[in-house]
Amino acid sequence: MSSNAFEPRPIDTHKPSPARIYHHMITGEVIFESDLPFIHRLYEEIPFYPLWARHNRRFLTRAVRYMIDSGIRQFLDIGSGLPTGGNTHEVARELAPDARVVYVDNDEEAINRARDLLRANDLLDSTVMLDADLRDPARILEHPETRRLIDFSEPVGLLLVSVLPWVPDAAEPAALLARLRTAVVPGSALAMTHVSLQDAGMEIKQQVAAGAAVFSDTSTPVTLRTREQFETFFDGWKLVEPGITYATDWHPDQPVDTTDYARPCNFAAIGTLP
Ligand SMILES: C[S@@+](CC[C@H](N)C(=O)[O-])C[C@H]1O[C@@H](n2cnc3c(N)ncnc32)[C@H](O)[C@@H]1O
Repeated sequence: MSSNAFEPRPIDTHKPSPARIYHHMITGEVIFESDLPFIHRLYEEIPFYPLWARHNRRFLTRAVRYMIDSGIRQFLDIGSGLPTGGNTHEVARELAPDARVVYVDNDEEAINRARDLLRANDLLDSTVMLDADLRDPARILEHPETRRLIDFSEPVGLLLVSVLPWVPDAAEPAALLARLRTAVVPGSALAMTHVSLQDAGMEIKQQVAAGAAVFSDTSTPVTLRTREQFETFFDGWKLVEPGITYATDWHPDQPVDTTDYARPCNFAAIGTLP
């Protein structure tokens, strides 16, 4: 596949992007006024989304801490999104100041904002933002900036946190994951989450069915997957206890609210490479 196969998605102020909407759900920030009608529809039709997003983001923090505790010092964070609080480099460097991070996203707004943040904080020696696409793993792995910061003879922490829902089956996600897996050495780890309605209550299923049209208006449609499908994405990896679970329940650092209606809508796991 050519290295220019996937150009970053240009900023389109008329079509809400998954990156901007997710960012709003985490931070409350409205990036473009034109996103507001969409955001309001989302709150109305799929009210669990903000809580879901916050649970997802908290899993990312715990995953990075887990990897640092396991001795990992270099991270490839693919589908990293717009920078918010608790970005991977911040979480990692708080515990290990020598940690290096390569961020990857295909959303121009996410790329620009992350680059501004890294430049403003003088972090480019240890952290970069690539404009690349998960569907072109060769570009990510062979990029000179990746090669500058990641030593592939040492374990790598792969973070694909809520990015696979934006990769349809036609893009062969299992093959993309296999390409990433074969690039890293034993001791590496893979953290992923995936939105799912398999275990969701009837009310949530009805909300999402009613709100499906909301998502068809975004720049990229979402693919929901089952627990079994998510588990196949860890082929070749050894799942860390407790295996596939809800994002809220993976090594929680606060009590889990089992009545939380967003809880069953996000599978999470970490695998290590034997
Ligand atoms: C829901 S956000 C998740 C952000 C972050 N990983 C987190 O969990 O907090 C999904 C991100 O994946 C990005 N994305 C979607 N498809 C992608 C692809 N094919 N390659 C790279 N990034 C992608 C979107 O632009 C967006 O920033």
